[in-house]
Amino acid sequence: MPDLYDDGDMNNMPSKLFEIERRIKNIFINFSFQEIRTPILEDANLFKRSVGSSSDIVNKEIYSFNDRNDKIIAMRPEGTASVIRSIVEKKLDHSTHKLWYMGPMWRYERPQKGRYRQFNQAGIEILGVQEGLPEFEMISVVCSIIQEFEIKNCLIKINHLGTQQDKEAFCKALVDFLEPYKKELNEKDVERLRKNPLRILDSKNTETQNLLKKAPSIKDFIDKSAMNLLNSIKKQFSDICDIEIDHSLVRGLDYYSGFVFEAISFELGAQDSFLGGGRYDHLCSQLGGKEMPAIGMALGLERFSNLVTLANNEIKMVSFIILASNLEPKAYKIAHDLRSFNKAVVLDISLAEGSLKSKMRRANKNNADYAIILGEEELENETAVIKPLKDELQEQQTVSIKDLYSFYKTL
Ligand code: HAM
Repeated sequence: MPDLYDDGDMNNMPSKLFEIERRIKNIFINFSFQEIRTPILEDANLFKRSVGSSSDIVNKEIYSFNDRNDKIIAMRPEGTASVIRSIVEKKLDHSTHKLWYMGPMWRYERPQKGRYRQFNQAGIEILGVQEGLPEFEMISVVCSIIQEFEIKNCLIKINHLGTQQDKEAFCKALVDFLEPYKKELNEKDVERLRKNPLRILDSKNTETQNLLKKAPSIKDFIDKSAMNLLNSIKKQFSDICDIEIDHSLVRGLDYYSGFVFEAISFELGAQDSFLGGGRYDHLCSQLGGKEMPAIGMALGLERFSNLVTLANNEIKMVSFIILASNLEPKAYKIAHDLRSFNKAVVLDISLAEGSLKSKMRRANKNNADYAIILGEEELENETAVIKPLKDELQEQQTVSIKDLYSFYKTL
């Protein structure tokens, strides 16, 4: 994960990730999702049984270690498996749920732009509802996020992997088609063909991609209702976001069947997918629970943050300057009261010792709108100086503490 430190270059704005997280949470809450927090550490087997032993994540990307009882523990690589484990353990797998989560994930990947070993995801899961409306709700959330942050140059890709049987029939047809060309495939694609043939559609190799042009397509294996769902979602949301049916979209985790989707940006380079998800109706029973239809998605916050430009919403900023150290407790209490009178204003107290000049320099650097100055004289007379820093026509004035409170309330 890139080290994050908000050094104030956003002019009084809270840090970018904080603001993105806040707005995404609001969208989730607005859609009536409930928060779930799952542990960062899980039994490593959970991911073998869910994400899948043929996935890249389980094969080479799990961060794991032995605990004191020699149990293999993994730092979670994603959120879905943990959510379902928790639902099964709490015996909540007979009802419907709409859940959201946000937090760090770990994958032992080769670090590069957009691929970190620690990164953050914001995810949602709709549990207990069959294919149909939840698919619309998922794409509606995706479009809301794209709209909220005014993301340009992006595309939502959707596909349908059919039922488990459709998926298996398609995999067999793909293997039968590619077997005669095995010698032309690179090592990685031969391995995919053996372990998880669907993933070969993700191959970055141009020769493989050329071969695949003539290969069978999933669209010949899925039924009419699946195609209708894709067309209908595309039709309903195309006025908001670019949506494309892409039959080569397979996703890298084994638990998917049915509807899958990804949002990509043309501004991200090689790691272009900032969000992905799909239906996983069999995961719950695979993990020891009941058959529970489910669909979900997760957004990578670091990748997404690269696409977001936040407007500078003029949050008012005031620098509180205390000039006499023996009077600080009283002055500090005045600052406390000010903060409680107007929570929309950011009030910065310079905590270090220093001259008025150095404190004013800090106020200007912070892009403060006003400085409130309290020296010994002011505190003795129960007054304060208000110095406007942005409006040159406004004069500084000495006011009573009572008037200071009134002034601060109106900011
Ligand atoms: P995923 O496609 O593996 O899906 O990850 C979702 C998003 O997490 C990706 O689109 C990407 O933005 C971000 N991401 C993944 N790996 C990294 C990395 N190494 N560095 C930075 N960002 C990364 C899932 O995790 C599924 N659990 C989504 C889901 C929820 N499906 C159903 N429910």
